Amino acid sequence: MIRQILRFIRKYAFNTYVAFLKKGGSYGKLPVRLLNYEKLYDKRTGGWYEINVKGITYGSVELEVGRFYYAFIQMTQPKLVLETGVFNGYSTSCVAAALKDLNNGGHIFGIDPSHMPHIWKNTDLKSFITWIPTLSQDAIPFIEGKKFDLLILDSDHSYKTVMWELINFEKYLEVGGHILMHDSLYFDGVGAAVKQIYKNPRFEVITLNSPRTHGNDKGRCPGVTVVRKIAEGFPALEFEQEFETWEVGDAESTPYLRDIQHATISTN
Ligand SMILES: C[S@@+](CC[C@H](N)C(=O)[O-])C[C@H]1O[C@@H](n2cnc3c(N)ncnc32)[C@H](O)[C@@H]1O
Repeated sequence: MIRQILRFIRKYAFNTYVAFLKKGGSYGKLPVRLLNYEKLYDKRTGGWYEINVKGITYGSVELEVGRFYYAFIQMTQPKLVLETGVFNGYSTSCVAAALKDLNNGGHIFGIDPSHMPHIWKNTDLKSFITWIPTLSQDAIPFIEGKKFDLLILDSDHSYKTVMWELINFEKYLEVGGHILMHDSLYFDGVGAAVKQIYKNPRFEVITLNSPRTHGNDKGRCPGVTVVRKIAEGFPALEFEQEFETWEVGDAESTPYLRDIQHATISTN
């Protein structure tokens, strides 16, 4: 009798779990490989103790940013995502985990010429990711004909590259789609590009602080800019020659984006 009851409970629990998964109830369930990588995170500095690398490194976005990307995907429910700057695949894997949980046929294309072991290797995230092993500037043939719902820009942080990516990839972004840009406060090259988006009425924009301190409490944090495209066409995004050489700024000065001198003043 007791055995029968136990069997019934086991079967009921299993069926409930399957129904839960089918409803998309696996929210937040990350692969062990990704969770193990997150154990290397140093909350104090917002950096990572990468295996076989001495000291703290800042290649991947902060863990909190990775989790923010996960939640952002759940919230905005994109189908096609394009990311520049894959590195070891931490941010890509966070996005892929969210797409997997959404179960809406979503996929992420990640551009990066750097050949390194990716966190998604040997996980069930693999089928949600296509790695494009080139520079952004050579990647157009790989994305031709596609329309993306989300762009994540995090490659090199020079104004030149960021503007190139914005001008060329924004054409492939659906109206109503979003752009996430990491490091828009720490790198003034990114900040100057973002400044132009703030001034363009085709976009809604906000820049949030992110927790990385690099071990310097007086220093800038990387920041994350969130953009929503509200219209196609004009005004077009344009390369502004005066910022051509901009990349990293002075870590202890006010970030370009937060400097009131450069604020956009509305005359309406
Ligand atoms: C900051 S890391 C990206 C971190 C990654 N988003 C994460 O959080 O795990 C920057 C990466 O951009 C790549 N990169 C640099 N210049 C690039 C370019 N022009 N096009 C595409 N990727 C580029 C580098 O190889 C590097 O792996």
